[in-house]
Amino acid sequence: MARRRVAILISGRGSNMTALIEAARAKDYPADIVLVISNIAGAGGLAKAQDAGIETATVESKPFGKDREAFERKLHDVLVAHDIELVCLAGFLRLLTPWFVKQWEGRMLNIHPALLPSYRGLHTHERALADGVKIHGATVHFVVPEMDSGPIVMQGAVAVRDDDTVEILAARVLGVEHQIYPDSLQLVASGRTRLENGLCKTDASGSPDDSLISPAVI
Ligand code: GAR
Repeated sequence: MARRRVAILISGRGSNMTALIEAARAKDYPADIVLVISNIAGAGGLAKAQDAGIETATVESKPFGKDREAFERKLHDVLVAHDIELVCLAGFLRLLTPWFVKQWEGRMLNIHPALLPSYRGLHTHERALADGVKIHGATVHFVVPEMDSGPIVMQGAVAVRDDDTVEILAARVLGVEHQIYPDSLQLVASGRTRLENGLCKTDASGSPDDSLISPAVI
């Protein structure tokens, strides 16, 4: 099966982008990262993508001001011009209009640093710590018009410790993000996921080390 042509959309440092690029180096990986687009000129991830030999583009959102759809039409044109089949949002900090989401329905993934549907929106780690949750994590999901919603492809969890700071917890969750985003794209790009009644189903099974209990009593 031909590798699916993937574009990654970023706004910042692009560590998830790097994880996807690294995974796609494997010959049997079902996706090829052919393009990285940033909406912010000079975003850190752009240089990393170039170093990895990936074509980059900058489509600045700022000049379009409140006209989000005009920005997205330009973005869409670039994606279409590169024959992109799947889009991965990776720290892309723009809320997308229903028009753009419709163009990429069932073909656009996002990663969010929380176990959705808990902690949609910003400051997820701060809020999880403030609530005293014992398990936190990250989610890869298909993008729908409602923010941080949409069929869940994969989640990864971490135990939260009493002495965690926002930075320490964020770093631990980021490690999980770097595993679940490449794994999710692998499932989706190889056709092992299907959307049924607003849910994402797959033939892949749960983790072999099946339960995470936190705190563990020893
Ligand atoms: C990641 O933690 C990602 O989950 C988050 O931004 C960070 C980007 O880091 N995304 C969101 O909060 C979207 N709601 P990265 O640029 O190093 O991949």
